[in-house]
Amino acid sequence: MANTILVGAQWGDEGKGKIIDVLTEDSDIVVRTQGGNNAGHTVYIGKQKYVLHLVPSGILRSTKKCIIGNGVVIDPVNLVEEIDGLIKLGIKVDGNLFVSETAHLVLPYHRELDAQREILKGKNKIGTTKRGIGPAYGDKAARTGLRMIDLIHPERFAEKLRQKISENNEVLKAFGAKPLSYKKVHNAYRAAGDRLKPFVANTLVILHEASLTQAEILFEGAQGTFLDIDHGTYPFVTSSNTTAGGACTGSGVPPNRMDRVVGVMKAYTTRVGEGPLPTENAEISDLLHGLGREFGATTGRARRCGWFDAVATGQAAIVNGIDELAVTNLDGLDTIETIKVCVGYRDGKARYDYVPNDIEAFARCEPVYEEFPGWMTPTNHARKWRELPAKARTYLRAIAELTGAELKIVSVGPARAETIML
Ligand code: GDP
Ligand code: IMO
Ligand code: MG
Repeated sequence: MANTILVGAQWGDEGKGKIIDVLTEDSDIVVRTQGGNNAGHTVYIGKQKYVLHLVPSGILRSTKKCIIGNGVVIDPVNLVEEIDGLIKLGIKVDGNLFVSETAHLVLPYHRELDAQREILKGKNKIGTTKRGIGPAYGDKAARTGLRMIDLIHPERFAEKLRQKISENNEVLKAFGAKPLSYKKVHNAYRAAGDRLKPFVANTLVILHEASLTQAEILFEGAQGTFLDIDHGTYPFVTSSNTTAGGACTGSGVPPNRMDRVVGVMKAYTTRVGEGPLPTENAEISDLLHGLGREFGATTGRARRCGWFDAVATGQAAIVNGIDELAVTNLDGLDTIETIKVCVGYRDGKARYDYVPNDIEAFARCEPVYEEFPGWMTPTNHARKWRELPAKARTYLRAIAELTGAELKIVSVGPARAETIML
């Protein structure tokens, strides 16, 4: 029996949704433990594309249970839309999805504040998804947040919401933004609360009981290591712990029940939003965008693309305790003659083999590259390791070795079948 934490080893969008879908075959329960609908996890089943934002990707397999854990921040109106969209596509949600009573709510003032703060920051903006994630986690830390348990208790919700709207309207006015109508927000959220009530549960108890029956639990990380509030490129980060520890605090499953950590990374690097990205490169960005790839699953923004950064992934392996690696999007490099891999950073005379905590120093860093010959042939037909071109195998072995964990999965296309298990 193995409980598995899956994390992004880069800046998010590593292909976690696809790998979760592959690994879910051997799991009983899939749990989201942090983030909110800033996440966008893409899964293809046949030709059908699904993009999951709050609901764990395991929902696409009808025999699996899915949990949105206490560490997630939930926009209830948005969650209802997502659930209804899945039901319309024939996915079984009732009886398979459970939402933690203690997960915090994202309210319209969080979204509005997120947008206003970004405007105020001007050129120093974070480039958030404007889903209200930062302000919602801010309320949680300030102990002034509303939770799912409040939402499903109408009187309690009404009283707390009235107070929060009146307080936040003062702040919105100071930003020069339009105040919110209590009545409108209340009605929309109460309707969502009624719809979500059957899903709301004490998920700690569900997970504890499941672990007594030896159920296998898969923890679906959102975002990526360098968007972690503590270990990422602060302040260009999200507001939760995206690293492996977040799976414990965001679910209530203790560290000694975790058996393995899988790190997902692309064969190159992408980032959406602002902040340093030393290996950012126009050649690879243009190539991937030209193929219609690397546009955000949540906001549709073009992702910034660059060469594989082994300094960053090596640090991700350390901070998450990554045991096994899944490398995705190998096929994205199929037409590149010479592939670069960053093995160190240089800032003037200083040389780093880790990600410097000084964000200004990191922004100045120039990558030190090693070069690999490209394989110049499509890889998306390979289903076995030996079916990959020798140069691709050399490249994969090198990036796994530089990262410092065992290569276990290679993905050569978005579909389930386009996967090589080592
Ligand atoms: P996530 O947020 O980590 O789940 O990743 P996203 O879904 O936001 O972005 C990953 C993108 O890469 C999606 O469009 C996936 O369908 C796609 N994808 C994942 N693995 C592969 C792969 O091996 N090859 C190709 N071509 N696309 C992939
Ligand atoms: P998945 O789970 C990529 C980025 C935003 C921004 C920063 C802060 O699909 O990998 P936020 O809205 O969270 O306050 O934005 O974090 N970001 C992501 N980038 N993938 C994600 O999720 C992301 N979620 C947030 O672009 O730079
Ligand atoms: Mg994504």
